[in-house]
Amino acid sequence: MSTSAMTSPVVTDRAAVITGIGSYVPPDVVTNEDLTARLDTSDEWIRTRTGIATRHVVTPGTATSDLAVEAGQRALKSAGSAVADAVVLATTTPDQPCPATAPAVASRLGLGGAAAFDVSAVCSGFLYGLATASGLIAAGVADRVLLIAADAFTTIIDPRDRGTAVIFADGAGAVVLRAGDPQEPGAVGPLVLGSDGGLSHLIEVPAGGSRQRSSGRPAAPEEHYFRMRGRDTYRHAVEHMTRASHEAVARAGWRPPDIDRFAAHQANARILAAVADRLEIPPSRRLSNIEHVGNTGGASIPLLLAQAAAAGQLTAGHKVLLTSFGGGLAWGATTLQWPDVTAI
Ligand code: ACO
Repeated sequence: MSTSAMTSPVVTDRAAVITGIGSYVPPDVVTNEDLTARLDTSDEWIRTRTGIATRHVVTPGTATSDLAVEAGQRALKSAGSAVADAVVLATTTPDQPCPATAPAVASRLGLGGAAAFDVSAVCSGFLYGLATASGLIAAGVADRVLLIAADAFTTIIDPRDRGTAVIFADGAGAVVLRAGDPQEPGAVGPLVLGSDGGLSHLIEVPAGGSRQRSSGRPAAPEEHYFRMRGRDTYRHAVEHMTRASHEAVARAGWRPPDIDRFAAHQANARILAAVADRLEIPPSRRLSNIEHVGNTGGASIPLLLAQAAAAGQLTAGHKVLLTSFGGGLAWGATTLQWPDVTAI
């Protein structure tokens, strides 16, 4: 097994500060009843094992960039300025394998000419994207970064696989980050990131990349779909999110009781509860929208933050812990004090 872990040393006084946030979910909703009509499953199984009741899905013809543009527009509006020097898009479902999707998104947002590229870290894409944006700002490469996390996850889900079809869904969330002071509200705190590629087979799309293409063997259609070994993944998700969270909280100089809001990747309600229990964060401080949006991959944390802020569950001054886990395996955690922003 290969493992790696990275924490962000404080090397600069320029922090990335959240100054705008927006989100978007496609209008079509799939209920558990819709799924039970075509899969060997039940509303009771889905609710008790995952906590999901409904999810939003794209309709034919809608791609990740369409979701990303909607969320990006809202974040820029929330920030009160349509300016960004860089557009970073975290996604597992790019519009096509080449080129990256971010340049097209930037162009459609009127940000043509800005640096634009994709970040691939599956469900940890938003936290890896925050690290990327923070680095661009700290290094003086950019003063303002639009970070979007978007996934049309259902486009890689096998509709006949009850193990994944009931969980994954589509959506997008975005934040605008500006250069600021590490101590001000909205400043992204110390980031803890890690990966374990020795377990990459637990979450994968087997075909479509250079490994399969260079084999000369045509892929079976089902190899283009996402596969997840749920039970094995579960254990690693709880372990790594708990450990990364403890480390991020300590590096911020906080203690778990200081955390006002726990915002974890919405993988599964039971995983969220297990991690929050281990961190001794009471239920009243746990943000969750998985019941209504399912697991939206990389989009899930900014979508959660935007919806919670819009609903008044997350307000200026709250000390927030973010943590994620997903394919790679890749995980992360960070902290921030919620800024005075209007989520759109
Ligand atoms: N309806 C009914 N039965 C089902 C369904 C379903 N939708 N799906 C699976 N089952 C069955 C299985 O076939 C199995 O039956 P068997 O015992 O006869 O073989 C039984 O339920 C138990 O299956 P498990 O997969 O062990 O069920 P579990 O309780 O572990 O729940 C789940 C599955 C929800 C996927 C859970 O394991 C999980 O959430 N894992 C972690 C997911 C995660 O965190 N992923 C990382 C982030 S996402 C990302 O990176 C893209």
